[in-house]
Amino acid sequence: ASATLTVEKVGGRLGAVISGVRLGGDLPPETVAAIRAALLEHKVVFFRGQDHLDEESHEEFATLLGTPVAHPTVPSADGRYALPIDSDYGGRANQWHTDVTFVPAYPAFSILRAVVIPPYGGNTLWANTATAYSNLPAPLRALADGLRAVHTNDYDYAALRPNAAPEQLVHYREVFTATKFRTEHPVVRVHPETGERVLLLGNFAQRIAGLTGADSRALVNLFQSHIERPENTVRWQWQVGDVAIWDNRATQHYGVDDSDDHTRKLRRVTIDGDVPVGVDG
Ligand code: SIN
Repeated sequence: ASATLTVEKVGGRLGAVISGVRLGGDLPPETVAAIRAALLEHKVVFFRGQDHLDEESHEEFATLLGTPVAHPTVPSADGRYALPIDSDYGGRANQWHTDVTFVPAYPAFSILRAVVIPPYGGNTLWANTATAYSNLPAPLRALADGLRAVHTNDYDYAALRPNAAPEQLVHYREVFTATKFRTEHPVVRVHPETGERVLLLGNFAQRIAGLTGADSRALVNLFQSHIERPENTVRWQWQVGDVAIWDNRATQHYGVDDSDDHTRKLRRVTIDGDVPVGVDG
């Protein structure tokens, strides 16, 4: 119950641990409201000891935060919404990204559950894209405000997997780009719930609209470097049964691929979002 729920910050710019709650589809509205408020404030929240969750109850809990959505190209597990993020299947997310930004209305929240965790490594980092924007010098904020970027899932999957066999790379490419998506978003999004301005880039952002390749890369690198600064991030060391929920509209994340051949399995349910609105509406 919400009376026992506690929220403790674990990073200066984002991240909090919530304790005193057993996640599931039967939580009372006041507990859901407290979780949602913490999520909007801290951008990513962590829960330990949620080993009781399975595909079904993970999804039932997700429904309390909004409408679950399937991944646009990757098949889900057992016909459910939970996306398998498995080291032996190609689920390596070792790039800074915001989930699924290659579709117009990309997910608002992601809920990630740890099922098998390697003996070392395999942490996940999150970065706060609101503070990355608000800490920019004023001329750079003004520059970003006027830009738009093209996002696509049609990118170089080999770059993420330097040690993968060629046939594996063909497989990843087939799965992840089974349908090619391309959309344009403002580089600065006004968050629909908090009103904060956030930088919207990440791995699926292919280029800045209307610029040449070289100019586009220079600008993306400039803004991305502010997002990725260590002091703008939080790092989570997973245990089996942990759950992380992040505001996908105000963060990027990076799954560190440093567990060698050890198995790592997580399940991710994403919640429907809306089409981003820029600073000019
Ligand atoms: C993800 O990108 O949603 C997964 C992150 C991870 O594997 O740590």
